[in-house]
Amino acid sequence: MTIDSARVSENERTLLARVPKGLFIAGEWRDAAGGATFGVEDPATGDLLAHVADASAADGATALEAARAAQPTWAATPPRERSDILDRAYHAVVERIEDFALVITLEMGKPLAESRGEVRYAADFLKWFSEQAVRIRGDYRVSPDGQSRLLTLRQPVGPSLLISPWNFPLAMITRKVAPALAAGCTAVLKPAEDTPLTCQLLAEVLSDAGLPPGVLSVLPTSDPAGLVGPMLADERLRKVSFTGSTAVGQNLLIGAAQNVLRTSMELGGNSAFLVFDDADLDAAVEGALLAKLRNGGESCVAANRILVQSGVADEFAERLADRISQVKVGRGTEPGTQLGPMINREQRDRVQLLVDDAVRGGATVVTGGSAPDSDGYFYEPTVITGVSASARITHEEVFGPVAPVYTFDHENEALRAANDTRFGLVSYAYTRDIGRALRVAEGLEAGMVGVNRGLVSNAAAPFGGVKQSGLGREGGFEGIDEYLSVKYVAIDKP
Ligand code: SIN
Repeated sequence: MTIDSARVSENERTLLARVPKGLFIAGEWRDAAGGATFGVEDPATGDLLAHVADASAADGATALEAARAAQPTWAATPPRERSDILDRAYHAVVERIEDFALVITLEMGKPLAESRGEVRYAADFLKWFSEQAVRIRGDYRVSPDGQSRLLTLRQPVGPSLLISPWNFPLAMITRKVAPALAAGCTAVLKPAEDTPLTCQLLAEVLSDAGLPPGVLSVLPTSDPAGLVGPMLADERLRKVSFTGSTAVGQNLLIGAAQNVLRTSMELGGNSAFLVFDDADLDAAVEGALLAKLRNGGESCVAANRILVQSGVADEFAERLADRISQVKVGRGTEPGTQLGPMINREQRDRVQLLVDDAVRGGATVVTGGSAPDSDGYFYEPTVITGVSASARITHEEVFGPVAPVYTFDHENEALRAANDTRFGLVSYAYTRDIGRALRVAEGLEAGMVGVNRGLVSNAAAPFGGVKQSGLGREGGFEGIDEYLSVKYVAIDKP
């Protein structure tokens, strides 16, 4: 397969020229303290899209001071005003859906239709948390012995560092920024170095929506450790929220221990996708396609291991391979593209290593299995069968368009295999038997379960994992609690 992608067009250059390139601190766009910048690439071609300011530890300290200074006033701002700002930002993002979608596609690679879907998903978090800002609850109770009154209230945790990933350059940001702002926390946001441009546009939208100076700073950087390390050691910071790999999350948790920070960690996954003999096979194949190829497989909720009961295993693998082999691969801006490039060379090469390792262990490539000839970082949509339990791909998050299919005989065996991982983010089950669906949903060691659905993500639902997939929840009623501390006031019997 050869992929000849179009280069950056005039139209795209015009939009990119309008994206702010500085650091956003204390309500202003400015150069990095040392004047440094770094380049952002189009993963479909390797072309340079833009340069943005490159924040250093000095900029981190300035942004943190702005967040500290703005914290008391922001916390005291009436919830309705915080809500209104988020609501205005929601409307602005929806109005600018085409700008946001194109910038996402240019820097991250996913097809434009998927980028539009991400913009709507991202906007939903702004809407949802604009609604939650005015619903922060407290409690007033009589103590069991009747001698006192137990008053509880929820207060903002304080300045929060939000570290977002490249795979959803907008939605993973609004999922953090919106609850932080709704709760009354000020924030410093560090976008992923591969995809800072979308975040720059969002900062502009939030500022135009009326966010007071200092409440949010945005610091793109090519040196995440150099920026984040000193911030974690700084007593002005009270919380860190991260979405990304378990390995990085573990390091952040160690850093966060210095000042005993509140933490939210949305880390890696190794999702099992179970298909039972009694499943609606058409729906299961479509669900697997969605759970595997949404976002090009570059998602922590992507189906990583597809486990199919022996009665339907061959037919399922054949049908999945047939559907996957028809997927159109190309630059995300090209009409009809269903699968864009992977984010960078390193990720693409890692996927190839995992496939090669599985094949050395006895797996068969049914379709795909290699990187097409191209200047970009494409990988063919792939199905492999006969993968051994000891293959690396069985235990590591593939984060790419590769679907390993395994076979099982009994429900217990499927559950054991599904849970045989250090991760526990999401799993999926396809069955028509309601009893089995509930048994399996209860038995899966995961923070989320999709039943006859290949997609669980929803701004109104609590997203998060168990085991090494993380701590805390984002979205839903729970998402705002991550940015609130409970205070208890003991009152003598009136
Ligand atoms: C992720 O991949 O980190 C999140 C995916 C989602 O919210 O659907």
